[in-house]
Amino acid sequence: DLPGPGTASFTRQQRPMGLGHAVWCARELIGNEPFALLLPDVLVQNKPGCLAQMIDAYQAAGEGTNIIAVEEVPLERVHQYGVVGVGKRNGKSFAITEMVEKPPREKAPSNLIITGRYILQPEIFALLETQQGGAGGEIQITDAMIRLAKTQPFHGIIFEGRSFDCGSKIGFLAANVAY
Ligand code: G1P
Repeated sequence: DLPGPGTASFTRQQRPMGLGHAVWCARELIGNEPFALLLPDVLVQNKPGCLAQMIDAYQAAGEGTNIIAVEEVPLERVHQYGVVGVGKRNGKSFAITEMVEKPPREKAPSNLIITGRYILQPEIFALLETQQGGAGGEIQITDAMIRLAKTQPFHGIIFEGRSFDCGSKIGFLAANVAY
């Protein structure tokens, strides 16, 4: 049932139950393969694009790894995002030691936030199926990733490029000016 070459498929999330639930709604379209997840309210301006950089990191890390795009933000903004802990570094990539969704500043493991670009393994779907509500009462992809990280490696990549968080008015405005 997977979409054929050159075709696009859509799925709907009937109720706003969180990003993790929205991703779970696409499980039948993806099947049992690694996949890229791009949150469309985040734009990254760069050539090569952020996802292309992530695919390079994925190929370097080896099959079975999960890759998360991360960037630095001032500490006073970490509570708006998923935040990662930094382990062994390898150039622009590093092993992710922990992840927290929207932590208060004093509980953030670093100032590196999840930018809204992921390469994930399909085992995430079984975890999303049983994922309880987290930050904001929503089913969070970050919480399912925390569980997946117990059995699979997660690498962060500090990508090159400028990101725009178009989920905020100022971010949307900045993206329009930049583009
Ligand atoms: C989502 C993710 C968060 C990530 C952010 C990037 O949050 O849950 O981990 O840092 O996107 O924009 P949301 O923006 O949906 O609150």
